[in-house]
Amino acid sequence: MESQRENHSVEKSLNVWQSQRRQVLQGGGMVALTSLMSATAMAQNHTIQAVRNSNSLQQGEFPDGFLWGAATAGHQVEGGNINSDSWLLENMKPTLFDEPSGDACDHYHRFGEDIALLPELGLNTFRFSLEWSRIEPEPGQFSLAEIDHYRRVLQTCHRMGVTPMVTYNHFTTPRWFAGMGGWESPNASQLFARYCAMVTSQLGELMGMVTTLNEPNLIQLLFGIPGLQQTKLGTIEDQEIIRKAGERMGTGLFSSWVFGDYEHIHRGLLLAHRTGYEAIKTERPELQVGVSIAMEDDQVVEPGGEGMLDKKQSLAYVPWFDVARRHADFFGVQCYSRCRIGPSGRLPPEPGVPLTDMGYEFYPEALEGALRYTHQHLKIPLYVTENGVATTDDTRRIEYIRRAVAGVSHCLASDIDVRGYIHWSLLDNFEWLDGYRPHFGLVSVDHKTFHRHIKPSAVYLGEIARHNHLMEG
Ligand code: BGC
Repeated sequence: MESQRENHSVEKSLNVWQSQRRQVLQGGGMVALTSLMSATAMAQNHTIQAVRNSNSLQQGEFPDGFLWGAATAGHQVEGGNINSDSWLLENMKPTLFDEPSGDACDHYHRFGEDIALLPELGLNTFRFSLEWSRIEPEPGQFSLAEIDHYRRVLQTCHRMGVTPMVTYNHFTTPRWFAGMGGWESPNASQLFARYCAMVTSQLGELMGMVTTLNEPNLIQLLFGIPGLQQTKLGTIEDQEIIRKAGERMGTGLFSSWVFGDYEHIHRGLLLAHRTGYEAIKTERPELQVGVSIAMEDDQVVEPGGEGMLDKKQSLAYVPWFDVARRHADFFGVQCYSRCRIGPSGRLPPEPGVPLTDMGYEFYPEALEGALRYTHQHLKIPLYVTENGVATTDDTRRIEYIRRAVAGVSHCLASDIDVRGYIHWSLLDNFEWLDGYRPHFGLVSVDHKTFHRHIKPSAVYLGEIARHNHLMEG
């Protein structure tokens, strides 16, 4: 019954966006597509190559065509993302954010320099996101100039021999979208599909692999599992700030990312992924479309914790495996640490174990656990779309990468179809509520001069990529 209702609303959403899309394309004028090359053909080649060779791998060796890369997200690096929901929240007083994103890494103007770092290091893939609020600053008003900006980003990737992996939405949404109820709104999935269709019609030829949403299950992990919640957000004071944001919008509504009703947001995102997937496939059936999910390596460490584990998996992961079976060509696993579970929920890291600058346990083996668990449920190609560590001690990042990549190699040896490792992050960037304090980057950024400095960990990951083989750090 529930699923009939859901199917019905997917169909309804699709009909609505298809007719809206016709209006947009008729009224908006088309920009000629630059036929630089078929990125889709490249992605397909990659898929075939990655399969070849994976049977005869030596220990520590990776299949031909394996993707090695680094990731960013628009709002965290571009700077000046003034039409987004996050910009509004960051600049309110009081605010939930330690500091505003401001100019971030000025990647918006320096993307050429940043993309050039990847092949210089030996990496072949760049994961980045499009900023919906730049592309559609007002409902239905698409900026061809901003679409052109991302066209230049994609063209730069191709010129430099780098495979782009494009995220259509990485947390931030246009301010107007948050002000109409965000993902909680009954129109959310249609609006997202309209945006996906527009972007794909304009830029699809330059894309090969895309994901609709970044970590759409995060809100469920943070708030939705009694005993396992992982956030201090949601206090009365926090809710008051969100209420004031609604007032600022003039609608009395504000819902976005992890600020709102978690159940409605999560449900809205599940639907939006499906309508977004359909919209992209309708425009370009040959594009490889996936979704990236936030995961921990969940380990029951005390007797009686199995019920908690089951609750977490069934609420935060299983709905995405179910959706991905019909609506994904690949699945993105994003994992940073483990979750120790006892009968009453999440347990803190054991006393004395090393922690990262985010306060998580330093536990690179988590990635292998998350990949193995995903593979048990889902037999489609997996990509590590994020994995990394917040630290100012780069030797720890090198150790983290070595142990995490070893885990990927063990998965390959067990015939798990992992096709890429994309590290978070290329740059030290805006870490959301924590501002610029945590350093996840392979490359540091001076936030006054915007000078980039390559860290030894970037060189190390690049060496692994060049040899397509795990190296000693
Ligand atoms: C997100 C990134 C974030 C990273 C490190 C992931 O959950 O996709 O935006 O910066 O983790 O916290």
